[in-house]
Amino acid sequence: MERKRIGFIGAGPVGTTFGVRLAEQGYAVVGVADLKDEPARRFVALVPGARRFPSAQELVDAAEVVFLTTADDAIAPLCGSLRWRPGQIALHCSGASTVQSLEAARAQGALVGSIHPCQSFADADQAIAHLPGSTFAIEAEEPVRSLLTEMARALQGDIVVLSSEDKVLYHAAAAIACNYFTTIVKIAADLWNRFGKTPADAVKAYLPLLRGTLANIEAVGYPRCLTGPIARGDVATVRRHLAALERQAPDIVPLYRELGRHTVPIGRDKGTLAPEKAEELLRLLAGRPARPDAEP
Ligand SMILES: NC(=O)c1ccc[n+]([C@@H]2O[C@H](COP(=O)([O-])OP(=O)(O)OC[C@H]3O[C@@H](n4cnc5c(N)ncnc54)[C@H](OP(=O)(O)O)[C@@H]3O)[C@@H](O)[C@H]2O)c1
Repeated sequence: MERKRIGFIGAGPVGTTFGVRLAEQGYAVVGVADLKDEPARRFVALVPGARRFPSAQELVDAAEVVFLTTADDAIAPLCGSLRWRPGQIALHCSGASTVQSLEAARAQGALVGSIHPCQSFADADQAIAHLPGSTFAIEAEEPVRSLLTEMARALQGDIVVLSSEDKVLYHAAAAIACNYFTTIVKIAADLWNRFGKTPADAVKAYLPLLRGTLANIEAVGYPRCLTGPIARGDVATVRRHLAALERQAPDIVPLYRELGRHTVPIGRDKGTLAPEKAEELLRLLAGRPARPDAEP
């Protein structure tokens, strides 16, 4: 299989992990250019045969495939500041930006594409550990699509091919699943302050719970993975939750109500939440009277 010379501009977690893992799979990673010393040194130390290029342009001149693994906002201006060759391949790994941000390279005859790992990388070590087996969202025309598909397969990943139109919604969905999951756990952990325990105590307690929850999603899937009072149709418990939150953390009540509203259909689909209980829960979560003739 032909192995093109691959270079990276930007030695953050994503550039570094692609460099390390693609080199392991036999790809010819020639090197990296980064504005800062430390990430570039680390890249070179981790990727056998790679060298540091003094400038992004020198890397572009030496590589056939160039990953622009900078922060999203820097991709288009960086791409526009470089001289590209016809037939060269310019890539980025952003989930929210489309290949439009590589337009300057395309205008000079280069081929363009993007490969977004659907994964969360807090630092380079985490990234290197977690990249293999991720799903990769690919936005590219042929022949770049085949090149990126081959890379994703080499990284033991699943592939989802996206159009430019669908890219931002795809990324918004990933942000809800990943970033807002992080936020929700923090909100729940902070509530432990209200009864004299620390959020760190809460996180320690929640980690086994969350691992169990993820294992349930993996083992039995939706809707069977849902547990808790909404899945059981336990209206009194939800009412007590709301009363406690209104007393002790009123700022969290709208979030609890909104997420509850989205949880009711999962309970219905699971079959454990009876239709009349679901209606009662929806009224309670909306702040309406439990029965049309009752006070809220
Ligand atoms: N982190 C994630 O979880 C994740 C997941 C999937 C996809 N992605 C995507 O992957 C891409 C890279 O993300 P990242 O988290 O690795 O980014 P990052 O931590 O911001 O690292 C980017 C690196 O590129 C350097 N850089 C910026 N402009 C440069 C230039 N003109 N020339 C050379 N180097 C330059 C930065 O230096 P400075 O710090 O000095 O600017 C930094 O060292 C982004 O498109 C991001 O959306 C990230």
